[in-house]
Amino acid sequence: MRHHAITRADVHDRPTMLARTIRGIEPLAAAEIGRIGVVRRIRHREVWFEVPDPGRVPEVLDLRTPDDVFVLAAVYDGIGRSKSSLLRLAQGVRETCLTDPPALPERGGGAAEVRGVDVSASFVGRRNYTRYDIEDAVGAELARAQDVVYHSRRDGAVPPCGTASWRVTVEGEQATLALRMADRPLHRRAYKRASVAGTLHPPLAAAMARLAGLEGVRNVLDPCCGAGTLLFEARAASAGPRLLGTDLDPAAVRVAKGNATGADRAAWAVADAGRIPLPARSVDRILVNPPWQRQVPAAGLLKGDQSILWRQLRRVLTDDGCAVALLHDPSTGLALAAAAGFRIRRTIEVSLFGAHPVIGVLNPAEAGLGGLRPTR
Ligand SMILES: C[S@@+](CC[C@H](N)C(=O)[O-])C[C@H]1O[C@@H](n2cnc3c(N)ncnc32)[C@H](O)[C@@H]1O
Repeated sequence: MRHHAITRADVHDRPTMLARTIRGIEPLAAAEIGRIGVVRRIRHREVWFEVPDPGRVPEVLDLRTPDDVFVLAAVYDGIGRSKSSLLRLAQGVRETCLTDPPALPERGGGAAEVRGVDVSASFVGRRNYTRYDIEDAVGAELARAQDVVYHSRRDGAVPPCGTASWRVTVEGEQATLALRMADRPLHRRAYKRASVAGTLHPPLAAAMARLAGLEGVRNVLDPCCGAGTLLFEARAASAGPRLLGTDLDPAAVRVAKGNATGADRAAWAVADAGRIPLPARSVDRILVNPPWQRQVPAAGLLKGDQSILWRQLRRVLTDDGCAVALLHDPSTGLALAAAAGFRIRRTIEVSLFGAHPVIGVLNPAEAGLGGLRPTR
């Protein structure tokens, strides 16, 4: 087995960082990362990068599209499918810890506050071991080297706060070992004090907001706003637009309003997306994650027929506007959008907790066609 710790010399004199994303938005995460650093590699759910300007390293923790960001500690080759690969991996970690001991992250009062280590692992392809087998093999070595407790995640156990969180990913025959930069995952947003059923994963909402292109626009509407995730990510992407959030469920609107503490230039209302209470051609951007039948039933005017939603979206959108929608039934959603007068500019399939919805980026097909006349 070849293994090597990533040393400063290996990585152009700076640490290599590894951003984890959901499947499908790696290029969008790379584009966001490219504004503060240099992207070195894009893999399945990963973007590897460096930040040449040390003054910009803190900005890594403000990235919106990655689920989380880690500092790469080591890469191990020759990690195959059989269980014996885990012995090789453990040996590699042991050697790394001896030759290049990984530092525990500073948390507030310093390294002394770190109470132990935990490990999250994932792999691509079939293996004769589980993620928990990888985690326990690596975790035991890290804990021994650092003389701290290892907290296994096996059987759904949740590690206590204050542990150093390590990440192992295995793709092909290569395993990477990396240490989380922040003391909690980046995808956990401070604004999400309360939530609703079917609420969107914030990094996906951030990717959708970026696809809409928000610079210089007056307003952004989410007519099925739920907890407000899409609009809060829009605010993080651009301070300018006024946020307009509506939902048929008064409880959802209350949640969004509560989460909005501190988000200025925002308006929230209870309304049916089948009758959006806004004038024709008054909205510059739409971000929407419509109800889908399995987890979040469509109600009100959308019950049984979502075509009215698409006609309403086209009605309120300006002729040079853009709508970005998450489609859980992409073929139906795209057909309804096209029938309502949208041109499908781009589609991106993503993987989200076992489902494969599609992000649709839609523009008005043509201004002023008969079929696109405002309807109420
Ligand atoms: C998938 S959830 C949206 C989640 C939201 N993006 C978030 O991040 O929290 C769909 C939302 O559509 C709402 N909804 C269902 N039927 C509606 C209708 N006719 N008009 C407006 N909203 C509706 C539900 O109340 C629910 O909040």
